[in-house]
Amino acid sequence: MSVTAVVGLQWGDEAKGKIVDLLTDQHDVVVRYLGGNNAGHTVMFGGETYKLSLLPSGILRPGVTNVVATGVVINPQAFLEEMTALSDRGIEIGELLISDRAHVIFPYHMAEEAVLEKHRGDDAIGTTMRGIGTCYRDKVGRTHAIRMGDLYRPDFLRQRLTDVIAQKNTILKAFNPTFDPFCPDDIFNEYTAYADRLRPHVCDTTAFLHRALRDGKSILFEGAQGSLLDIDHGTFPYVTSSNSSGCGIHVGSGVPERAIDRMIGVVKAYTTRVGGGPCPTELDDEVGQHIRDEGNEYGTVTGRPRRCGWFDAVATGYGARVSGVDSLAVMLLDVLSKLDDVSICEAYEINGERTADFPSHAADLAIAKPIYRMLPGWKQDITGIRRLTDLPSQARAYLDTIAELLEFPVQIVSVGPDREQTMFAD
Ligand code: IMP
Repeated sequence: MSVTAVVGLQWGDEAKGKIVDLLTDQHDVVVRYLGGNNAGHTVMFGGETYKLSLLPSGILRPGVTNVVATGVVINPQAFLEEMTALSDRGIEIGELLISDRAHVIFPYHMAEEAVLEKHRGDDAIGTTMRGIGTCYRDKVGRTHAIRMGDLYRPDFLRQRLTDVIAQKNTILKAFNPTFDPFCPDDIFNEYTAYADRLRPHVCDTTAFLHRALRDGKSILFEGAQGSLLDIDHGTFPYVTSSNSSGCGIHVGSGVPERAIDRMIGVVKAYTTRVGGGPCPTELDDEVGQHIRDEGNEYGTVTGRPRRCGWFDAVATGYGARVSGVDSLAVMLLDVLSKLDDVSICEAYEINGERTADFPSHAADLAIAKPIYRMLPGWKQDITGIRRLTDLPSQARAYLDTIAELLEFPVQIVSVGPDREQTMFAD
């Protein structure tokens, strides 16, 4: 039995899907525990590429139970569409469980987010516009929340939708007088129909996971977004609205952290960020564009070009410590192969002071000047290399520097999208 967790240590998009997919064979259960259809996971399976958003990456493998746990926010329409898209491609969906405690995203959540982001102008968070933050806001506020289990209590649901939608319509109309109000009956009918289709999947996933642990099943927790987007520990307010660091596993699944045997922190060999917020090592030059082109750094969900820059050991080390990782998986190392030299940010200078601590305020991070350690590049195609010892010495030195600065060992290195393009330390 083993309980493994895979979490991103940067601002998301660390290619966690590939690591989860590699490890899925060794696990009975794969669990998504936070976020919603803001996440985008690319998984290669049987020579095909699949882009998953809400469904756990284990969905492609027969015999694996996939769990969408309590901390996830669920857009039932998106959920069903993703299931149908997989079925259409011949994937047989096995045991798939959805928490009855998970909160539900409604069309008014998307509408609210659109007006709120618009009104922030240049200060917009740059969200994925999926209604994630507005749904979590209602969850924390409690009085406007609707959970998956509520979809099966028609009297409660009708009453709650009537009350909530009246208030949402008032707010949305205040922002936009020509706004076409939501109709509670229409939404009730629409969501009741989704609920009927999802009924076989909805259950108490916390009880299921506790039973799985007791029965000695191996469980894989699949992180979404990354540690620096964590609502409590990330670059607030430019974060997502749930605990996307390792801290979120306990919160979002009901499985305590002490049950986890192995926590793998996934990092890109460089930095990317989508949306707003400071990113000290961002390169607004031809090197940044080179990384974007070589790494195909465009958002899986929104298609937005990602902001690219050098590896930031201050930010990533902080993410690793908050998440409590045991080891690192360094992804997309091949993307840096054509560069003459490569840099790693080992400290910041803030108001003339050198620090290796990650600032708690976005305004301090915005003025942090990266202090780089420059290393020679390897200028060699490494995509065919299968053993760490066969990597060019410069690439090994680059990985050693990451391990030294983060103070965690590099256990896995990826040099391409295929499963074979993965190397493991002994
Ligand atoms: P939200 O999660 O849609 O509220 O967006 C909040 C912030 O998190 C924005 O900067 C998004 O670009 C970012 N974000 C959300 N999901 C992901 C992801 O899966 N990868 C990278 N960034 C994400």
